[in-house]
Parts: sequence; C-alpha cells; structure tokens
Amino acid sequence: MSISFTVASSAPGRTRADVLAVPIFADRAFGPGADAVDDACGGSLARFMERAGFDGGRGQSLFVPIDATAKTALLVGLGSATDLTLDDLRVAGALISQKAGGSARVATTLADAAPEALNRGEVAQAIGEGVLLGGYEFLEYRSKSPSKRKLTHVVLLGGGGAAATRGLGRAVTISGAVAWARDMVNTPARELAPDRFAKFAQQLLRGTGVRVEVLDVAAMRRERLGGVLGVGQGSKQPPRFVKMTYSPRGARGSIAFVGKGVVFDSGGLSIKTGSGMETMKTDMSGAAAVIAAMSVLGELGVTTKVVGYTPMVENMPSGEAIRPGDVLTFRNGKTAEVLNTDAEGRLILADALSLAAEAKPDGIVDLATLTGACVVALGEKIAGLMANDESFGDEVESASKRAGEQMWPLPLPKQYRKQIDSEIADMKNIGSGGYGGALTAGLFLQEFVNDVPWVHLDIAGPARANADDGYARRGGTGFGVRTLLELAEHHGAAKRRR
Ligand code: BES
Ligand code: MN
Ligand code: ZN
Repeated sequence: MSISFTVASSAPGRTRADVLAVPIFADRAFGPGADAVDDACGGSLARFMERAGFDGGRGQSLFVPIDATAKTALLVGLGSATDLTLDDLRVAGALISQKAGGSARVATTLADAAPEALNRGEVAQAIGEGVLLGGYEFLEYRSKSPSKRKLTHVVLLGGGGAAATRGLGRAVTISGAVAWARDMVNTPARELAPDRFAKFAQQLLRGTGVRVEVLDVAAMRRERLGGVLGVGQGSKQPPRFVKMTYSPRGARGSIAFVGKGVVFDSGGLSIKTGSGMETMKTDMSGAAAVIAAMSVLGELGVTTKVVGYTPMVENMPSGEAIRPGDVLTFRNGKTAEVLNTDAEGRLILADALSLAAEAKPDGIVDLATLTGACVVALGEKIAGLMANDESFGDEVESASKRAGEQMWPLPLPKQYRKQIDSEIADMKNIGSGGYGGALTAGLFLQEFVNDVPWVHLDIAGPARANADDGYARRGGTGFGVRTLLELAEHHGAAKRRR
C-alpha cells in the first residue's frame, strides 16, 4: 500500500486527521502543535505525560486521547532540541508509521520542530523518508498478512511550500528505490538465482533511461571475467554480469558504482557453518543497492554520467567448484591463488573493478558485504570506508552523512600488502596472519582500480538489521542506496560550479 503526502499551512486544530502527531522535546516547553493538544485536553497534557512516564526522550511515543479534529494525538519524543539532525527527523517519521500506521490519515507538526538552519525541503524529505522506510514491510512469504497498516495519507503541517512538496516527492522516489533493494535482499536465494536477479534488474530499469547489458557465461568468457566465472562455476545456477549505463545529455563528470552480487554464499568448498550461512542470502546487498540507485537517477535529475557494474553469482560447493589452491586470471590480467573459496567477494569484484577502471571515471565506489572482520571492527551499523584518494573519500563520506548512513574510515596500509603475497600467483585471496581481514580484502581490491579515485565500502554489518531499529526494519536495510544517490546528485552539481 502506498502512502501519499501533502503540505498544509493550516493550524493543527483545523486539520482533519485520525491522528495528530506532534513532536515533544525533552528540554523545551510545548511547541505549536503540542499547545493545541494541551488545549484539547483542557490543559492537562503535562500531568498526563508525567503519569505515563513520557518525558520527550528520543524514540519515546505516547498516545493522548483528545477531542478535536483528530481523536488522538501521538506525542513523538525528539530528545534534546539543541542538536536535532535530519536523521532524528527520519527516526521520528518512522515512529509515525509504526505507531499510527493503523490509521488512514495522519497530520503532523513534526517539520516545525526542525531548527531554522535546516533547509525546509530537506526537512520534509527526511520526515517523508522516515515514514516510508519505517513503514516498510516484506509480506511476500506470509500465507496470511499480519499487517495492520492502513496509513495512506500524511499531511505535513507548517507549510514549507514548494520546497517541502519537492522534498516529499524526493522522499517517495528515494524510499521506493530503497524498498526495492530491501525486497531483493529479503527474497530467498531460491527465487533469486543470478539470471533471475538480472531479470529483476532489467524490469526495474525499463523506462528509466538506463541502458542495461546482461552478460551470460559465453559473453563473460569473451570479456575474460575469470573471477566471476571461477566463483560461479560451482553452482547449477550460472553467473551473470549486469552493466548499467546512465548517460544524461551534456553529462557533468562520471562515476562508477560496483556492487557485490553473491545471491547466496555457502562458502563454497571452504564451506561455512550452518549458522554462518543463515543470513547469506544477504550477500547480494551491494548489487541491490547499486541497481536500486541506478533506477532513480533520471527521476532525480542527476546530471553526472553513472555506470553500474554488478557481478551476480551463487557461491556453492560441488564437483565443479573451484578448489583451494586453484588460480584465477582476472579481467586486467592479474592472477590470484584461491586459498579460501569463502573469500569469494573480492574475486568477483576484481573483474568488475577492472572494467570500471578501464573507463576512467572521476571515481569508483564499490559496495560489498565483504568481511566478517569489518563487522568485528565497526559493529553491525557502521560500514567501513577505504579510499585510495583522500578527496574522493571525503566526497563519499559527506554524501553518507547527508544520507544518514554511518561509515567510518579504515586504512589501506601498504605494509600489509605482503600478507596477500602468494607462493605461485600475483596474490592470494586471504591474508596470512588472520588479523585485519577487512584491510587485506581492501588491499586485494586496490590491485584492480589502477590510479582511478576509488572508495570501497564494506557493508557486511549494516546491510541487514537483526531487529527493527528506527527507520530500518528487520532484514535487508537497503544500506548504501541513499549515499550513492547523494553522491551522484552532488557530483554533478559540483562539476557545474567549477
Ligand atoms: N559474505 C561474507 C562476509 C560476511 C560475513 C558478510 C558475515 C556478512 C556477515 C564473505 O564472503 C566471507 O565469507 N568472508 C570471509 C573472508 C575470509 C574467508 C577471509 C569472512 O569474513 O569470514
Ligand atoms: Mn564468503
Ligand atoms: Zn560473501
């Protein structure tokens, strides 16, 4: 069910809705919306809040029965007023769909809570994203829908005019892309063999102005994609390679997106444990994010050329699988000894990064659920960011901040390069010593980008959430989509200014 938005400048007491959602700060007197609620309950709001133990803390919420144009108010706690960010507004927006989602029509004064310094369009966008992403549900595999969702309309009070309306439109576009990525990640691998995944991509991209090329095994042989073919050879489901080109007229600059698309990672002959495999349908999250982002570049009016590269494979053990000790030759001619078939992501990314680098874009960003070591280092919510170029690294990092996707820089230390030296080939696919696995994986990838500015995002942690958390729902998060879009939009705009 889709949710539509409108912007209104009417007073909260004059807007018809089932629920009126008003923000409450922990450290400030009632604002405009809350005053109206207080009036509607005869001045007893403060006492009611106190009895319920609601103090406006971040993430808290409380229903208050009122007798006005809405029958119920939903108090949404925002915490301290001084450091309110766009991401706090996303989280608050998520509370609206999660708590009031059983009602059809919700009006909210949330935009009024944002500090003057924040742009009205961005405020509306953040609230809209929170409502939409926080209201995401994946019901495809339920025999009976457990959903109680009735929410179809949200009225953003406080005006904001055309900027707010535009912001809400962007929220709908971007959240739709994120939801598609989440759907793909949540889909069981049984339904998402590489050829199916490629077809889903083609379907999504039809009519978006993005040209799609799907390489099958024969085409990949011609293109010498030895890494993708090698990892893919153990599965009954043959690999695919999807290349997507968005090339607006008079393009300003160019960027490449690369996404790891392992539809299921059993580990191959270096097989994982049972529990280690439970979530390994998630291993195509990078590819899903890239495809999803590509699908809305046109709609968002991106002026930069963007090319997406997504290798898709299933990593399986079989009589035809690659063995520990085998050597693969990649697109750029380099070779690697595969000592652990579970370090497969870097093998397929090697070909994709080589192709991306050949085209010499201004920058390459890859997203990959690459290493458990990165999750050990940064936990489940923060992606590792490795860059061979400081300025492009900064560009991606600031895009991620605007998007509200957390990333933290990790190094690509030259002195660790020898940890991936091989006895017989140019390199091996695991680091000796065992520590710093996120970094040796990054160093492996660096061998394929030449000197093109490049950022590697290890999203092994944040690609999925094990519990609902703010506007992330349990399961695939669609992490990376919003950063890629921020990056593409700003890259074009920055090029124009120069
Ligand atoms: N897809 C996994 C990484 C992963 C682990 C993602 C946990 C999400 C959660 C990757 O292909 C993998 O198996 N990496 C190995 C590398 C090792 C064999 C060098 C790992 O991290 O254990
Ligand atoms: Mn693996
Ligand atoms: Zn993997």
